[in-house]
Amino acid sequence: MNKHDLVYLTEDASHDAIIDLINAEAFGPGRFTKAAARIREQGPHDRSLSFICADDGETIGSVRMTAVKAGDVDAHLLGPLAVRPSHKNRGIGRELVRIAIEAARRKGSQAVILVGDPPYYMPLGFEKVSYGALTFPGPVDPGRVLVVPMADDVHPRLKGVIAWQDWQPMALAAAAE
Ligand SMILES: CC(C)(COP(=O)(O)OP(=O)(O)OC[C@H]1O[C@@H](n2cnc3c(N)ncnc32)[C@H](O)[C@@H]1OP(=O)(O)O)[C@@H](O)C(=O)NCCC(=O)NCCS
Repeated sequence: MNKHDLVYLTEDASHDAIIDLINAEAFGPGRFTKAAARIREQGPHDRSLSFICADDGETIGSVRMTAVKAGDVDAHLLGPLAVRPSHKNRGIGRELVRIAIEAARRKGSQAVILVGDPPYYMPLGFEKVSYGALTFPGPVDPGRVLVVPMADDVHPRLKGVIAWQDWQPMALAAAAE
């Protein structure tokens, strides 16, 4: 595969079926029981911040973002992130994460949060959230709760419940005034 055949696109409804398949293949039937999945069940993800990677027209990777309130922070929850086994280890996962973070930053998000493996995500700009500071709707390993802070004082404000919330991005709120 030539890297130049890969394109990264904003997700739309036409990608739903293949994204379901990619996530089922990557995470198996237990994927709906995870604490992060239970946040995602509270409301729709934000398609404008969710991206797919296509190779010659075939969708082979996906990242989704969901608007949340985390303690006092207007944030986005990143995930699921999955790349098809045929396309692993080619930098596609890293690029999907990078694109999603930059899109959230442009939208005025104060932080991107996820539950994931620190060795994969920390080189991409994620930092550990204070141990046990955020309460998820189910058990999580506190050592796997990570954040890219994108505003002042994010870490001390990440304290309390994390839940779905359709918050108004700062940029849009300012434009509406
Ligand atoms: C994790 C995943 C998205 C990575 O996608 P990818 O396109 O293969 O990743 P990249 O090519 O950007 O990065 C590959 C590198 O990350 C490493 N890596 C992959 N998964 C890792 C993990 N869980 N922890 C640490 N490193 C990991 C690979 O060993 C590789 O290392 P190298 O560059 O030193 O060879 C993909 O393997 C996948 O879909 N896995 C199943 C679902 C999953 O676990 N999602 C993430 C939830 S935390």
